[in-house]
Amino acid sequence: MEKVMVLDFGGQYDQLIARRVREQHVYAEVRPYDKITLSEIREEGYKGIIFTGGPNSVYDPASPYFDPGILDIGVPILGICYGAQLMAFMGGGEVASAENSSEYGKTLLHVTEHALFSGVPGESVCWMSHTDYIRSVPDGFEIIAVTDKCPCAAMGCDGKRLYGVQFHPEVTHPEFGKQILRNFLYKVCGCKGDWNAADYADRMIARYREELRGKKVLLALSGGVDSSVAALLLHKAVGTDLICVFVDHGLLRKDEGDFVEKTFRETFGVNLIRVNAGRRFINRLAGVTDPEKKRKTIGEEFIRVFEAVAGQIGHVNVFAQGTIYPDVIESGKGASAVIKSHHNVGGLPDVISFDEIIEPLRDLFKDEVRSVGTMLGLPHELVWRQPFPGPGLGVRIIGEITEEKVRMLQDADAIFREEIEAADLEHVPDQYFAVLTDSRSVGVMGDARTYGYTCALRAVSTDDFMTAEWSRLPYEVLERASSRITNEVPGISRVVYDISSKPPATVEYE
Ligand code: XMP
Repeated sequence: MEKVMVLDFGGQYDQLIARRVREQHVYAEVRPYDKITLSEIREEGYKGIIFTGGPNSVYDPASPYFDPGILDIGVPILGICYGAQLMAFMGGGEVASAENSSEYGKTLLHVTEHALFSGVPGESVCWMSHTDYIRSVPDGFEIIAVTDKCPCAAMGCDGKRLYGVQFHPEVTHPEFGKQILRNFLYKVCGCKGDWNAADYADRMIARYREELRGKKVLLALSGGVDSSVAALLLHKAVGTDLICVFVDHGLLRKDEGDFVEKTFRETFGVNLIRVNAGRRFINRLAGVTDPEKKRKTIGEEFIRVFEAVAGQIGHVNVFAQGTIYPDVIESGKGASAVIKSHHNVGGLPDVISFDEIIEPLRDLFKDEVRSVGTMLGLPHELVWRQPFPGPGLGVRIIGEITEEKVRMLQDADAIFREEIEAADLEHVPDQYFAVLTDSRSVGVMGDARTYGYTCALRAVSTDDFMTAEWSRLPYEVLERASSRITNEVPGISRVVYDISSKPPATVEYE
């Protein structure tokens, strides 16, 4: 399979570049600049290399840098923003700071006739975000695009197949960004386009069918997209030698546990062990109100329950995890991120006995995982399931968790989701749910005074969940949800809509 490397210099768009390349049916992988050597790059046999942007200036000695020998290994390179400046700097060109003429946002680009700009008109809109710029290009390079302010918006050395663009072709705003990336891949690197997530999954299934023959494979199924797709893929490969353990901690959304069980056991015939541990979790959570303690308690109890079940299964040969590519990239970047990549298993490998770990989805982005899920026949609800925190409704019930509160929240949340779906808005916010606050207030129902809980509704739009904007849901939808929740869910007498963005608020309440 042909592949392209995205050499990451700390740009905010590193993953996006890799995704854009894959959308063009060429496999791309992100490698941090300080975790790979020139000789390793040579051995990998890349068809092309893309240098990412980054927040630094090439003249700062602490800035990311790479062995300039990379320019001579004969592999085509496209430098983007900082990556282009670095290429110019490494090659002996000059980079300068344009304090007074920095460009940010949509900018008119003028290109010359060049293979990199095949199909791109002489004038089009590109997306700029820079202060430094390339003042003079290295020997052998020529300027192939400019903007009104930037004397070198793109440069190229056809002899060595080295190119640099000051703008960002990978973001969605530029009109011809995709075309430029495609030109680099197909016209410069000579890629044929052999990447397709569904074919990849077929190859993985065939491979696992051989490699895992006669082995017992264990997977912790949560009902989330990643573990569900990993389960189905492995089920196709090894059938009932795959044992899925689904710990239902009782803090799932209404009827979700039954749905997961039915889907995997009845529809797909997966060898599934469901552990209904709701009561056990509630008992352990009695009196716990501190958010961090709650999360910890749920996490620890989860491991204990899993451990007990795994103990009954005995020794397994293989432990499978639903880790996906962004987790792999993140875990290469620093200590805090490692925690996140292990988050899928919460430390399970320490407590159960197995010979090896496999991660069937570790090369795939989320959208690719979804295509594989669809190809494997996973129901739409599971393929497009919104993110759901591991501790479940536990972090959406403020204060102490009781069975009664879980039931109230499940009912209110189900109503909110029904109303959003009825209004055809389920793909508008990226996440929406109900929260049971710990505050009670006086209400009136018929002639009687009530003293019920306040339910908060939350809906957010976001690209990456690091920041989020509250969704402007239509008043009618909010009104119907509010009216139904206060009428149909005993114990809730007031509904509020959360209009806080992240930051300063977070998406979840705890
Ligand atoms: P916050 O609340 O940090 O949430 O703004 C950002 C996104 O992460 C999800 N989330 C979690 N997901 N385990 C998970 O798998 C967790 O413990 C967890 N906490 C938050 C949250 O639903 C949102 O999508």
